[in-house]
This record gives sequence, C-alpha cells and structure tokens, in this order.
Amino acid sequence: MKKVITYGTFDIIHTGHINLLQRAKEYGDYLIVALSSDAFNAMKGKKSYYTYEQRKAILEAVRYVDQVIPENTWEQKAEDVEKYAVDVFVMGDDWKGKFDFLASYCEVVYLPRTIGISTTKIKTDLNQSNDG
Ligand code: CTP
Repeated sequence: MKKVITYGTFDIIHTGHINLLQRAKEYGDYLIVALSSDAFNAMKGKKSYYTYEQRKAILEAVRYVDQVIPENTWEQKAEDVEKYAVDVFVMGDDWKGKFDFLASYCEVVYLPRTIGISTTKIKTDLNQSNDG
C-alpha cells in the first residue's frame, strides 16, 4: 500500500483544500493529513475558527482522507514519514522547495494551489459583507 502525507490547518474547508486532498490521494492508496494543532497554530501566529477536534472531524468526513494525526512542531516531518511508512509527501506549491530535505526519506511533491480561494480570503470577504 502506498501512503501519502500532507500538512496544514484546513480551517473552514474550501474547494482549494478539497482539490489538494483529491490530488494528494491520487499519489497513493492511503492519505494521512497531519493537522496543525491549536497550540502549533498559535506558535505560527494563527488562530483557526474551528478547534483542532472540529477540523479533525470535518477532515475525517472527506472521502480522500484516511487518517488525521496532529502536527505539533515544524521538525516532526521526517519522524512522521518513518513512523507511518510514508511514500509520498505532498504540499501546495506555496511551500515549494521548503521541504526538499525530505527527499532522502520519500518522494516530495508540490502541487499548484487552486487560484482565488483561501481561508484568509473567506474570512475577509465575510467580514466585508457584514460591514455594509
Ligand atoms: N491549498 C491549495 N489551494 C488553496 C488553498 C490551500 O492547494 N487555494 C493547500 C495549501 O497549499 C496546503 C493545504 O491546502 O497544502 C492546506 O492549506 P491551509 O494553509 O490550511 O489553507 P489556506 O486556505 O491557504 O489557509 P490560510 O488562508 O489561513 O493560509
């Protein structure tokens, strides 16, 4: 069985996330999402709308996702790849080149982001539509 892993916050799931997860799954048979914990988001200066447990439950309901594990640190990736016997590491190309060091552990793939959508944009757009 070929295993794929990807990382992210996946707050307020949108079509960009679904496109990424669908394409990631095509690289193998089993997709693991390492989901940023609330504490890790705080470290990155981010605060998600949904809690970790809520984001996890939503991701587990997505047909492409087989397993959700917590992402607690920047450094855990190589360890995760070994622990879960991962074959392919997939990220959106906003991270292009950043994780090339994992190539000694598994295949590293950067996929083009879906244009015109992000969690940040959704939050901004909804805020603006409430202003008027
Ligand atoms: N992603 C994507 N296309 C988008 C938005 C996100 O392919 N339009 C991918 C990212 O490249 C990443 C994964 O989805 O691999 C999770 O991204 P995340 O940062 O959680 O989503 P964003 O919408 O980019 O969130 P934010 O606006 O808070 O940065």
